[in-house]
Amino acid sequence: MKTVLTSSPRKAARYILQGEVVAFPTETVYGLGANIFDEDAVKKIFKAKGRPKDNPLIAHISELSELPLITQTISPFAETFIQHFFPGPLTVVLPKSNYVPHIATGGLDTLGVRMPQNEFAQEFLKATGVPIVAPSANLSGKPSPTTWQTVEEDLHGRISCILKGKQTEVGLESTVVDCTKKFPIVLRTGAITLEQLQSVIPTTRLADARSSGLKKSPGTKYRHYSPEGKVILVVRAKDAIPFRNSAYIGLERHEELSAFRLGKVCTSIEEYARSLFLFFRMCDEKNIKTIHCQIVKETGLGLALMDRMKRAAAG
Ligand code: TXA
Ligand code: MG
Repeated sequence: MKTVLTSSPRKAARYILQGEVVAFPTETVYGLGANIFDEDAVKKIFKAKGRPKDNPLIAHISELSELPLITQTISPFAETFIQHFFPGPLTVVLPKSNYVPHIATGGLDTLGVRMPQNEFAQEFLKATGVPIVAPSANLSGKPSPTTWQTVEEDLHGRISCILKGKQTEVGLESTVVDCTKKFPIVLRTGAITLEQLQSVIPTTRLADARSSGLKKSPGTKYRHYSPEGKVILVVRAKDAIPFRNSAYIGLERHEELSAFRLGKVCTSIEEYARSLFLFFRMCDEKNIKTIHCQIVKETGLGLALMDRMKRAAAG
């Protein structure tokens, strides 16, 4: 299959209307989109990524008026989250409408919905005129793509079109919050922090990874975010010992940074989050065997960053 690269959201949107899948930038990571109402197009997403069929997709909208088409009741706290955090890196899980095919939701009766903030994403979504379901635009099991070049690396020849935008601002996937229960439950942490959600709905809590969370968010049971090399979490920079073919990333300067094959010191948590997945991919390219990641405090964005690093270390 020929993969067309374009910088035109309108041109990319035309592929969607022809029943094809298109990779596009958002503020979190690049997504691989298809028309939510077109079952054959949605199937192409799973095929291109090698994604398990029971892993549900997130619907992306550009206008709130699209919501009633794809969801049923919107709980009062979902309303509140939408008011405060749309557009932005937050996905709310709601009961799905009958128009949404089950293939899009991995067989579930609920649907995750988000409205990206990224202007390019908005332009693209508006030009398609339909809600777009999209997982991250990587091959299943690989770190999510934060640049169009990494999308191309994974999916060249497997999809019809890549909309070329900038490197994504956030670098980690959206926060996913289940709004179908008595209390909001965070199924996946992200750039909209637990503290931010609790500031508007104080009863918001994190999913218990051992029970409800795993069952409710099927995606969390699959291997994720993992580079080929072994990820080792270190408390202090000095705990990372440079040897042949190893890498270091962290907030703290490493005294022997140049002794690593790849080394990166980030000046903020935001920069760390933005850089992590691309750093993993660069390590893979250089065939690096050991990647040291300095841990951060698990508050604010640090909670999501630690979640991704722990998964990578476990993978
Ligand atoms: O930032 C993002 O969310 C990016 C961009 C492209 O929007 N998308 C993304 O999609 O990360 P994906 O498919 O890689 O991750 C979606 C996560 C999975 O863990 C999935 O299980 C969960 O969201 N999810 C989606 N729909 C759900 C639902 N109805 N109930 C529970 N979890 C759901
Ligand atoms: Mg993904």
